[in-house]
Amino acid sequence: MSLANCSVWHNSVPMEVSLTREPKWSRIDHLFVLLTENDKRVRDLPLGKPIQKAIDGSGFTGRADEAITLLFDEPRKLTLIGLGKPNKLSIRTVRNALYSIGKTAKKLRDRSIAMALPYTLPGLDSADTTRLVAEQLSQADYKYDAYITVKKDEKRPSIDAAVIPVDGLDAGRVREVEREVRAISDGVRTVRDLGNAPSNDITPARLAERAEEVAKAGGIKATVYGRKDIERMKMGGLLAVNRGSAEEPRFIVLEYTPRRAKKHVALVGKGITFDSGGISIKPAEKMEEMKFDMCGAAAVIGTMEAAAKLALPVRITGVIPSTENLPSGSAYKPGDIITMMSGKTVEIVNTDAEGRMILGDALHYASQLKPDHLLDFATLTGACVVALANEAAGLFSNDDELARKLIECGERVGERLWRLPEWDEYKDLIRSEWADMKNSGGRWGGAVTAALFLKEFVDCPSWAHLDIAGTAYAEHETPRESRGATGAGVRVTVAFLQSLSRS
Ligand code: BES
Ligand code: MN
Ligand code: ZN
Repeated sequence: MSLANCSVWHNSVPMEVSLTREPKWSRIDHLFVLLTENDKRVRDLPLGKPIQKAIDGSGFTGRADEAITLLFDEPRKLTLIGLGKPNKLSIRTVRNALYSIGKTAKKLRDRSIAMALPYTLPGLDSADTTRLVAEQLSQADYKYDAYITVKKDEKRPSIDAAVIPVDGLDAGRVREVEREVRAISDGVRTVRDLGNAPSNDITPARLAERAEEVAKAGGIKATVYGRKDIERMKMGGLLAVNRGSAEEPRFIVLEYTPRRAKKHVALVGKGITFDSGGISIKPAEKMEEMKFDMCGAAAVIGTMEAAAKLALPVRITGVIPSTENLPSGSAYKPGDIITMMSGKTVEIVNTDAEGRMILGDALHYASQLKPDHLLDFATLTGACVVALANEAAGLFSNDDELARKLIECGERVGERLWRLPEWDEYKDLIRSEWADMKNSGGRWGGAVTAALFLKEFVDCPSWAHLDIAGTAYAEHETPRESRGATGAGVRVTVAFLQSLSRS
């Protein structure tokens, strides 16, 4: 019996998004229209004329953050949301507007809403714009309330949202985009629920069970290894970090093997279900945020869920090492020398640099599968957050073409990546006198030295490491999303996998 919470807690039902040019207006409570300043495109929309009339009498100008709710005819409510100057239109302003829709709809207790944006976003075509907008809207009412026990039934009526697709898509393409929206939205939600769940709920064993549930639903094969297997495989890094914890470690392998797959991609995710720092313990303040230290693992699970739902013709192997990092009488200690699965030795100088220890073994394991591309996702370093804050994930890669593709996919789906170097010149910082390397290079270039450490265990010419420490969760509610796990990694990776299946 594990020490964890015994009952399974589920979050409320998600917003259900559909795409349609002709919403059944009599069944819609509230229509939301997103418009730039002095917009002339309103007339092209369904209900264009009455909407234009409402705008004319309202004083609405379309300034950024402007929002006016008017009584309408059918539907009863119309909200106009300003996006600012047309030449300043960005994914960011649109995301903020979409999140505000969710909040307004919840406050006004709308059960059924419709949403229209009459044009594409800069650099995106009609399909990309529609997908992005509908998918963001599907997250707009997200709040992790699984453990809120008051007013349980009155708290969350689910919302249906009809999104009017941007012009230029035929019916077939609309159905296809709708399917993509649902798959990505389900994957993102899985990541958010897993990330937000407390660490006494999502232990390594529970994380593995959730992975198995998602796998079963998606026709994915799941293999879960326990401590004995992990010992047999000589995963010294994972075992060392696990030594301080009363919870058993898990090593989870997910295999999605569609017929006619041309490419094989391995996805590795950091699954530290709680990171106290271990013997090199973290300060108490904000330590609770370290329940999010398994968001890389969650991103792998959510991405594979979406890929399976889309039946992408790409073989995908998900690899997740999972443990807690805690101090105890049996915990690994600074000065210890650990032999990793690959046979390389590591001098521990800081037990809080635990992510790279478990990932070193997982990357070695994944490299042996000889995938065409090897991607890893990890809330790896505070240094990456210092460098990029919450706007972009750090990207490290030994393959310029892969890096270029990932950045391009990220721009298209609103998940920015910024490349940082993984030059050998930095390797001096993790040189050890007592072992092959040390597990920390200190403060300077902390995100870079962490990536270089990982690279020591990668044997794949096309590898990318995404440090999502700054993007995986929001410390506070922001104009674009609620507090907590964001689902980082799913959108960009699904876009990348789709691009592979097309080439
Ligand atoms: N999980 C943390 C990184 C982290 C910090 C994620 C803040 C999100 C927000 C990681 O295991 C860690 O503790 N890294 C250390 C490394 C250092 C000891 C070399 C860090 O970044 O301070
Ligand atoms: Mn740590
Ligand atoms: Zn960590």
